[in-house]
Amino acid sequence: MTSTVESIAAPGVPGLDEAGRALLFTQARTANAFADTPVGDEQLAAIWELTRWAPTSANLQPLRVTFVRTAQGRERLLPLMNEGNRAKTASAPATAILAVDSRFHQYAPTLLPIRPQLKDALDADESLRATMTSFNGPLQAGYFILAIRAQGLVAGPMAGFDAAGIDAEFYPDGRWKSVLVVNIGHPGENPWFERLPRLDPADVIRWA
Ligand SMILES: Cc1cc2nc3c(=O)[nH]c(=O)nc-3n(C[C@H](O)[C@H](O)[C@H](O)COP(=O)(O)O)c2cc1C
Repeated sequence: MTSTVESIAAPGVPGLDEAGRALLFTQARTANAFADTPVGDEQLAAIWELTRWAPTSANLQPLRVTFVRTAQGRERLLPLMNEGNRAKTASAPATAILAVDSRFHQYAPTLLPIRPQLKDALDADESLRATMTSFNGPLQAGYFILAIRAQGLVAGPMAGFDAAGIDAEFYPDGRWKSVLVVNIGHPGENPWFERLPRLDPADVIRWA
């Protein structure tokens, strides 16, 4: 599907206002407990609708999502979360398993038609495929977290899970590989841990 919008990044178009910056970055928090307010499938689909427009290298978009939002789905997922992540995951109305598609290059001719030779090149080079998924998968996972916030929901990303167990349970054909699990919903009781410091820009930025 293509967009009718050419580009809105043009001179004179303002950036996000302070409320938008707060929603996505400065005031946004990681949730550790969720209210029982439901999150509908259309809201979950809207998260992906934003995520899919953010850039990836060669436009190859390796990230895949499984939205777990039924009691049966949660029952399959919970034992595979680290113990410290189970209660928060049980409280979330929806949880996304983010995975990378190890055969992502199958879509290369559609996604990058200007380089028709790319699919065969990637087919022959497993190490290049691994490099591309290891960079672009987590990159898209970051976009996904921001998209949750942009929808007015809160995210609880978790790396603490049994990846081999999730892959065996949800992706038995071996093609998708889980990279991150993200709780999605509205904040519940005492949802935030203490805010941790961020690095001083002086320790991070060099200018050249
Ligand atoms: C990739 C990633 C993995 C994380 N894994 C876990 C986890 O397994 N369990 C957990 O409780 N928090 C996890 N977190 C949450 C972070 O600790 C939290 O986002 C960070 O401390 C910032 O918190 P804040 O957004 O409230 O400032 C993870 C966050 C990210 C981005």
